[in-house]
Amino acid sequence: MKKVLRLVAYLIGLVVVVVVAFAAFVHFRGIPKYEADKVALTVKADSAMVAHGAKLASVQCLHCHRGSDGKVSGRPLSELPPDFGKVYSANITQSKTNGVGNWTDGEIYSLLRTGVKPDGQFLPNYMPKFPHMSEYDMQSVIAWLRSDRPEVQASEIPKVPTEPSFLTKFLCLVAFKKIPLPAQPVVEPDTTDLVAYGRYLVVGRYDCYPCHSADFKTLNQEFPEKTGGYMGGGNLMVALDGSQRYTANLTPHETGLGGWTEEDFANAMRNAKSKNGQALRDPMLPYNGLSDLEVKAMWQYLLTLPKINNTVDRKWEQ
Ligand code: HEC
Ligand code: HEC
Repeated sequence: MKKVLRLVAYLIGLVVVVVVAFAAFVHFRGIPKYEADKVALTVKADSAMVAHGAKLASVQCLHCHRGSDGKVSGRPLSELPPDFGKVYSANITQSKTNGVGNWTDGEIYSLLRTGVKPDGQFLPNYMPKFPHMSEYDMQSVIAWLRSDRPEVQASEIPKVPTEPSFLTKFLCLVAFKKIPLPAQPVVEPDTTDLVAYGRYLVVGRYDCYPCHSADFKTLNQEFPEKTGGYMGGGNLMVALDGSQRYTANLTPHETGLGGWTEEDFANAMRNAKSKNGQALRDPMLPYNGLSDLEVKAMWQYLLTLPKINNTVDRKWEQ
């Protein structure tokens, strides 16, 4: 009996030592580094590209990076669940000391695709990656960063380093990893194929699916359709004021957009109104820059999605 007890005590001790060692490893290793891919790229911008990049940035970058001076000088992302740590979006203005004025076009491209900075530092999922954005869209965003638009002019607000939590470090060990550079240039589908173009908008240009699927933890950025509950909604979001809500089911099931018309959808996208007249709340953004073709294509694509039966508690009374 004594022998058994001694063995059990020994095993418990061993488990404790392993757990402590593992925790120390995760803690001190921090966010991993990777080799940054070198991309030779010089964006040849014209005014159409800058305007297009500004339109994309208005829904893809500004809400996280716009700081107290109105430029993309960074801010605390207080709406993120505190489990991720204290996260600050960086100053990405043209400042050479505090922004990205010294980065090459290729370095910005490489970070946006793979999540790895020129010094090898990996940025966890609170900075999104854009593996499916077309070359033209991506280069337009870079053209916007380099342009004479007021929001990207140099701001000398210094960067505040993010303090990732243990959970973030742990997730970087098991789930959040560098995304490989695309093997081939990403080309937009022809706009005459509305469904293919609509899919491109949802997974590539506007990244609707990470929010509108079941959970960020089951996000599959390499193969978007393999994301858990793809486009079926129910992902819990924290708004800027700290209130919480779930994303809507966008599949054509009756618990989603089943009874909707294309006009209802256009009204939701452009005027942030649901079919029942309720105002859509953040973090859903008004996408008022969408063209008619973009709205039509996304709608045609959504109609082709497998129906997911998921009644989302929309908490309209909040
Ligand atoms: C969901 C919020 C969010 C969105 C959207 C977002 N970013 Fe970021 N970004 C961050 C955070 C947070 C960091 C800093 C992370 C850190 O320091 O660990 C960051 C870092 C960066 C950096 C690195 C800067 C540096 O010096 O380290 C660049 C460049 C950048 N973002 C560009 C962009 C661009 C361009 C877009 C739009 C296409 C964009 N980001 C969209 C949150 C966001
Ligand atoms: C940052 C997360 C996020 C992103 C990105 C996002 N949405 Fe949303 N969306 C939400 C949330 C949250 C709601 C619910 C808002 C509410 O209940 O007030 C919502 C609601 C909607 C609704 C209303 C549905 C209904 O039943 O009322 C539509 C339509 C919609 N989103 C479409 C889109 C499309 C299309 C895209 C991409 C172009 C997109 N969303 C991108 C978070 C997001």
